[in-house]
Amino acid sequence: MIEELNDFSSFGLDEHSSVGSDTAVAPGVDTRLPNGAALAVVDADQAVRDYLANQLGEGVAAAASMAELETRFGMGPIVVVLGPSCAAPSDLAVVERWTRTNPEVGSILVTSELTTTLLQTALRAGVKDVISAPIDQIQLIDTVGRVAEGLSVAKPMPSGPGESESIEVDGTEGRIISVFSTKGGSGKSVTATNLAVALARRSDKPVVLIDAHLQFGDVAVMLKLQPQHTVVDAISQLDRLDVTMAHDLMTVHEESGLMVLPAPLEPAFADQISGAQMVQLVHLVRSFAGHVVLDMPAFFIDVVLSLLEASDDIILVAGLDIPNIKNVKLGLSTLALLDIPREKLHLVLNRADSKVKLDVGEVEKTLQIQAAAHVPSDVTVPISVNKGSPVVISSAKSGVARAFEQLAGRFLDGAAAVEKTSTRRKFFG
Ligand SMILES: Nc1ncnc2c1ncn2[C@@H]1O[C@H](COP(=O)(O)OP(=O)(O)OP(=O)(O)O)[C@@H](O)[C@H]1O
Ligand SMILES: [Mg+2]
Repeated sequence: MIEELNDFSSFGLDEHSSVGSDTAVAPGVDTRLPNGAALAVVDADQAVRDYLANQLGEGVAAAASMAELETRFGMGPIVVVLGPSCAAPSDLAVVERWTRTNPEVGSILVTSELTTTLLQTALRAGVKDVISAPIDQIQLIDTVGRVAEGLSVAKPMPSGPGESESIEVDGTEGRIISVFSTKGGSGKSVTATNLAVALARRSDKPVVLIDAHLQFGDVAVMLKLQPQHTVVDAISQLDRLDVTMAHDLMTVHEESGLMVLPAPLEPAFADQISGAQMVQLVHLVRSFAGHVVLDMPAFFIDVVLSLLEASDDIILVAGLDIPNIKNVKLGLSTLALLDIPREKLHLVLNRADSKVKLDVGEVEKTLQIQAAAHVPSDVTVPISVNKGSPVVISSAKSGVARAFEQLAGRFLDGAAAVEKTSTRRKFFG
């Protein structure tokens, strides 16, 4: 393979590089990273294996193919550095199977030529990162460290019913609240995280926040969480998932007690999740949660449509500018066409204050819907996002926090709750 790379230097090698004996380590020899993960390199070409192993230091296991490595290591935390020969579909298929069944396998692909197709295929197969030649040793070691760190937070999947404390299911169903908008960047995730945290702090029953922005969700970052599991883990076990397992997959936000199921770590996983699966998951979660808040992406895809239909309440977030208002109007017509009852809707006008020069009353008239909350534009919001601490906690006295607390009050018993009517009145008559 080294020869096929044409130029030794393209791979960071020169002809005088030492390509000593195979660095393969016999089964059972401890080649663990400090956090307990094993480290291995795989390539069909021994010279490439040796080169990569030398870059990574001593005691690195080596194998000629993924299949060989798999038979030697089986389950357990391991970081695998794949050489260029592993870009072949047969090796990537093994990576995919191994990664899907064992969350403690992390792989990095090293390639002599990075193409968009290879990058997409590798990420789809579950490869965590792709590095192209010439190899920068520091970058390689950093990447291995990062992938190993990711593995160290993974815990084994809950194996079945009854593994942990029993979860109270009282026969009532929690309220499903989607936070949606037809415009990206309008403030959905800020609204979803603040609403969910406010609800969790004021509700007796568990409150769950699910990041349904499967490709680029940022709920975990906004709440500064290091998720152990994601929506993918729940969906991949859907057939045998029960309330205890679903509960065990959640990451708890310590300050509020909110339970969070974050979006997949790799955008490629999003393609594999259907709307029907997400609805099945949300229905299971509502059997033990008082509220299930869903943070959505800004487009009408299968997952979004199914979840909007399954929601008891839809919070529409609109920034206070003309493109936002135009998009919300279009979104409202689409929701009407989809037969979504009007009483499910709650409009949140974000960045709504006098400085923006748009009259809130006019906007409400144009949209034919009264706003449930006016959230001011405030620098505390980006500060809180960067800190990973929601405004309702970090700036509890701000106008933004008050607006979100007031919004939460609508969904809590005893407060000025919005009554859910059984009449399925449609939009615009
Ligand atoms: N009321 C506000 N005041 C000031 N800044 C705000 C406000 N609301 C949101 N922002 C800023 O806008 C950014 C985008 O918000 P957010 O991530 O919630 O949007 P989004 O609708 O979830 O975006 P996406 O469509 O990408 O998921 C935030 O990082 C935040 O800094
Ligand atoms: Mg978002």
